[in-house]
Amino acid sequence: MEQMQNEVQSKPMNLSHDISSRVMPFFYKFWVSSHGNNFFTWIGTTPVVHVTEPTLVREASVNYRKYLKVIGNPLRKSLATGLFFAEGDRWAKHRKIINPAFHLEKLKHMEPSFYETCSEMMDKWEELMTGENSCEVDVVPYFCSFSADVISRTAFGSSFKEGRKIFELQKEQAEMMDKIDKSLYVPGSRFLPTRNNKRIKEIAQEVRAIIYSIIDKRVAAMKSGEITSKDDLLGMLLESNNKEIKEGGNKNFGLSNEDIFEECKLFYFAGQDTTAYALIWTMILLSHHKDWQTRAREEILHVFGDKRPDIHGLNQLKILNMILNEVHRLYPVATTTRRLIHEEVKLGNLTLPAGTIIQLNNLLFHHDKKTWGEDASEFNPQRFSEGVSKATKQGQVLYLPFGTGPRICIGQNFAMLEMKMALAMILQRFSFDLSPSYSHAPQTVLSLQPQLGAHLILHKL
Ligand code: HEM
Repeated sequence: MEQMQNEVQSKPMNLSHDISSRVMPFFYKFWVSSHGNNFFTWIGTTPVVHVTEPTLVREASVNYRKYLKVIGNPLRKSLATGLFFAEGDRWAKHRKIINPAFHLEKLKHMEPSFYETCSEMMDKWEELMTGENSCEVDVVPYFCSFSADVISRTAFGSSFKEGRKIFELQKEQAEMMDKIDKSLYVPGSRFLPTRNNKRIKEIAQEVRAIIYSIIDKRVAAMKSGEITSKDDLLGMLLESNNKEIKEGGNKNFGLSNEDIFEECKLFYFAGQDTTAYALIWTMILLSHHKDWQTRAREEILHVFGDKRPDIHGLNQLKILNMILNEVHRLYPVATTTRRLIHEEVKLGNLTLPAGTIIQLNNLLFHHDKKTWGEDASEFNPQRFSEGVSKATKQGQVLYLPFGTGPRICIGQNFAMLEMKMALAMILQRFSFDLSPSYSHAPQTVLSLQPQLGAHLILHKL
């Protein structure tokens, strides 16, 4: 696997969206030879069953008590746990308490943070402009800082400095985790005093100290009445938690301080790279498909003119919504979803022993000609003109950018609104092209990323 991965990553590819054989060469080979039917591979001695039929994908996604999350190397827990890796009753309790913070009506409190943060990013681009009002820039670090800053502001209302430190530390940790993930897990290896292991633990402690100090300050300020605002995720989480404890009659009904710390850490991990890279792929695709860039801008100017975008208007942007659906289809930041079974299960006509991993290859589903038609690997947002369920002839769509079933992404509406706000503001102020120095090289480092950056030429309008 590693050999195939290294080989494809040694050079960029043509600028085509037919990326499956580059992004997941190993699984793609099996997918092709099994003609899109279920197949299996191994991770060491663990069997991995790759299911491809919509009914089986649904069953494995919906039945969250039978099909559990895969943690793999226990060191992963130092990166993020919380809702993402919680199971059974614990998961249900956490999801119930966190849900209100992501309700659609709460998103209006996030709008100013999206706006301010994007304005700051665009101001930085303008500072780079030369006499012709254009500049070449690799937008990757800008969008990574943008989404990290959005999380800092929306989660903690805190200054960027505290947030940026968490973001930098988690990035370093994710890169080290990815290396470990791609090699075979040897039980007990996490206790070895290797440089990687030591650094992962050090970072975990640093992140812990920063987030705990933010939470402690907030709880104290709320108690003393100094802060009443509950407009950020931490405030809403504390409020929802207090309500749950009050209704239940004792503390066991709520989340502990440690749980709250874990959930805050998770917002950074789950909401940062995902949104950043989804935005980066959108910028790349709109630079390549200028006709769609023009159509998106026309729609935005029609709805907002040069006024500040607001939630109400953003929800009316049909073309931009179609474009985002198509970007999530061709370049899903989560390329696979995995589940682990703890006791023998019957899945369709398969009988699977305990310890089997079920893998859903989202990227392969999204590029499958049987589902999407002959133009499956082409950028054609029009296919979503009547919504997701009508985007294919079969109706049963394997379209999983945000997962499916009860464990679907809790931040989906948050992320879509953040992306729409950023793109609307950028399209109002800039046009953009791919730079001649752009090389197309999608790869997965936990999320789907452009290995060689996203070099664009920005023109101020
Ligand atoms: C474009 C942006 C995003 C994408 C593509 C994305 C994708 C996903 C996917 C595919 C899952 C399901 C994983 C599985 O089934 O194993 C998931 C779960 C989750 N996401 Fe997102 N996500 C995004 C943004 C966000 C944001 C902004 C947040 C929070 C601030 C967030 C928080 C979560 C959480 C907490 C879960 C776990 C839900 C549960 O298990 O109940 N995500 N995300």
